[in-house]
Amino acid sequence: MSLQKIPDILPMTPGDHADFAAMMRRTPGVVLRTADGYAATQRYLERNPGLSFVARPADGEGIVGCAMAGHDGRRGYLQHVMVDPDYRHLGLARTMVDHCLVALLEAGIEKVHLDTLATNHDAHRFWQHLGWDDRRNEIVKFSRVLVEDSNA
Ligand SMILES: CC(C)(COP(=O)(O)OP(=O)(O)OC[C@H]1O[C@@H](n2cnc3c(N)ncnc32)[C@H](O)[C@@H]1OP(=O)(O)O)[C@@H](O)C(=O)NCCC(=O)NCCS
Repeated sequence: MSLQKIPDILPMTPGDHADFAAMMRRTPGVVLRTADGYAATQRYLERNPGLSFVARPADGEGIVGCAMAGHDGRRGYLQHVMVDPDYRHLGLARTMVDHCLVALLEAGIEKVHLDTLATNHDAHRFWQHLGWDDRRNEIVKFSRVLVEDSNA
């Protein structure tokens, strides 16, 4: 990669899905779920327009970063924040997250949550560095899968 070339940060579209899925597969620390398929991603982007972003080198192929955001009208949620190793520590994740947070705030959302794997200590350090509160020990998260798919 050329160190001078900072990738463009662009709104994510359904057309980014193949590159996004490839990036998910090659990035340790994130898990590709059935819910990350094309149809569900398209639905997510349609329900949450202008809230998700990708980093795409102007002269390269594929995407090298992603940050997805959505909301339920009350709270915002960040997910799939990732940057390829060759493009880390250039400020891409911070910038994409900032884009997501500005767009959420403009949509009237005042609090944003995100999940990380408990074992992803690098990510914990990253979010702490960005000022996110990880002391939500009063919350226990319950989930229920509604289909016969352990990777839903
Ligand atoms: C975590 C991750 C997204 C960071 O991407 P990045 O583009 O390198 O991050 P940035 O360059 O925007 O860094 C922003 C700031 O965080 C700091 N930072 C980056 N990675 C860090 C880490 N692992 N631990 C602590 N601080 C970190 C940077 O030094 C920078 O600090 P500064 O702005 O004060 O100088 C990237 O390492 C990644 O994709 N990891 C694997 C996927 C993952 O775990 N994603 C999170 C899932 S919830």
